[in-house]
Amino acid sequence: MVPGRFSLPEENRDRVVATYAIETALSLEEVSDGLCAEQSTGTWESVERETEDLVSRCGARAVGSWRRGDHVVLRIAFPTGNFGCSIPMLLSTVAGNLYEMGSFRRTRLLDLEFPDAFVEGFEGPSFGIDGCRELLGVTDRPLLGTIIKPNVGLSPEEFGEACYESARGGVDFVKDDELVADPGYSPISDRVTEAMDGLDRVEEETGERKMFAANVTDEVDGIVDNAEEARDAGANCLMLNFVTAGLSALRVLTSEMDLPVHCHRDMFAAFTRVPDHGVSPALLNKLVRLCGGDQAHVGSIDGKLYESNDEVVANAAPLRERWLLKSTLPVSSGGLHAGKVAANLDRLGEDVLILAGGGIHGHPGGTTAGARSMRQAMEVAAGDRELGESPEMKAALEKWSPVKAGEDGN
Ligand code: 6PG
Repeated sequence: MVPGRFSLPEENRDRVVATYAIETALSLEEVSDGLCAEQSTGTWESVERETEDLVSRCGARAVGSWRRGDHVVLRIAFPTGNFGCSIPMLLSTVAGNLYEMGSFRRTRLLDLEFPDAFVEGFEGPSFGIDGCRELLGVTDRPLLGTIIKPNVGLSPEEFGEACYESARGGVDFVKDDELVADPGYSPISDRVTEAMDGLDRVEEETGERKMFAANVTDEVDGIVDNAEEARDAGANCLMLNFVTAGLSALRVLTSEMDLPVHCHRDMFAAFTRVPDHGVSPALLNKLVRLCGGDQAHVGSIDGKLYESNDEVVANAAPLRERWLLKSTLPVSSGGLHAGKVAANLDRLGEDVLILAGGGIHGHPGGTTAGARSMRQAMEVAAGDRELGESPEMKAALEKWSPVKAGEDGN
């Protein structure tokens, strides 16, 4: 059972403040009154039972509104007692029917501000940045990881060998792709056994501890079963596709399991990519932290995804800013290779997990050389060596051109 779900005081004093940008032909007052009514005590027409007392106890109310070009920006305060510490009910309240209102052409939920009493109903990350670093025994440099590629179709034995080769080249962290969870060709327990065997061999050879994140995404009632199976087979980290499985599934997983959870955001762009509609990606990451995610994707600097570098930096901010909860480790992933490491560390800082799939497994020298090229590129960023001085870095830079820190057009 997720703790704290019904722990709020019945008195509706505490409020969550939601900030929206809404494109509409309505006046400020019409938008604000309409939204408050629709999402709390009323509807499009006045109803006799909507008394002053009811509205003062349970009604949403505007705490700010102004025009910005074609948009109305609204700050609406919702009494927390209306939904309690329940993520689905919070989202139904602040982001439910609004998107389908005919008089709102576009609606963007920009941010949610939570009162402390509400946040205290959540456990947040159990491990977070410090806990992940501690498990790996790495405190003085950024973390490096890989997604095993090819993503789909490898047998558990082939997968385990790829884990060994990646870790041998210096990655700290190996993970499943979002497209692999518990398929017939690679049952989760067999894959985890082989992966951990490969990582344990490297630990014996090098003394470096490694982490493997097993993707446990499934129907809601199968997620914790998969996670227990992965843990029993030796996995020391779990992964969830949290948008397709749901934030509530993430919260249940993080509260039931005593392992760090890596949060993959696939499908998130369906909600975030149109700039003035949907939900801001930074807010999604704030919710991931609230639901206990220990690691969360933020896009990548100069990578293959749609976001500008400034947006990637903004996505990482709510994971690390001061809050009542532990910090979540930002994960930079998507189209990275050795030539892009410096730019990522420059914009995202040291408390980050840099992930590469193609940039490691597609290296001309193979997986181990690809991993080495990335680890060496981190040493370059730390000022400990020159870019391209090793054969592995040279081969990577010959295949993919480097990007210098700050050379990003942002
Ligand atoms: C994952 C991957 C994936 C990402 C790329 C990364 O974590 O499962 O990050 O979602 O978009 O596939 O791989 P490349 O480094 O090959 O781009």
